[in-house]
Amino acid sequence: MKATTLDDVLALYERYGPQHYDEDLSQLDHATQTAALACAAEATDALVAAALLHDVGHLLELAERDVPRRATDLRHEARGAAWLSSLFPPTVTAPIALHVRAKRYRVTVDPAYRRVLSPGSVASLERQGGALAPAEVAVFEANPGWKDAVTLRGWDDHAKDLTLTVMPLASYRPLLDSLLL
Ligand SMILES: [Fe+2]
Ligand SMILES: [Fe+2]
Repeated sequence: MKATTLDDVLALYERYGPQHYDEDLSQLDHATQTAALACAAEATDALVAAALLHDVGHLLELAERDVPRRATDLRHEARGAAWLSSLFPPTVTAPIALHVRAKRYRVTVDPAYRRVLSPGSVASLERQGGALAPAEVAVFEANPGWKDAVTLRGWDDHAKDLTLTVMPLASYRPLLDSLLL
């Protein structure tokens, strides 16, 4: 299934964004904090959009009440990127599709990185396959958008502040609109 309009995307966040997934903060707060960090880093519009929407796959999972959570990895990164692929270019969807693999990559190439991860991210890391094997590192680096995915991952890991107030979802509509295919 694919999103057909930007309104589909924003409606999904309005409806399910207040819910939580693996973290203590809501999906909506996590999304807007990740986007705010991308804006603060003066990222491209495409990467700001990727930051905002990187966990849209979790929103799709939350929309399916009967999905068994946490027991298995549901590949939210692939599902989210596929859902958005009819609306946004690969500069937006590729970092989304790779943001979990970017975590597994960072754990392999930078052992200190594991300490940055939240308890929820550590728990999901194991479900997602753990650190990449050395042979998988070069394979990951062959993906278009892999560097953007690693950059996005850094914002993702820090966008878990329960007290931070940032720009609301609606403020990103013009940016998202400008990127539509
Ligand atoms: Fe994620
Ligand atoms: Fe995330």
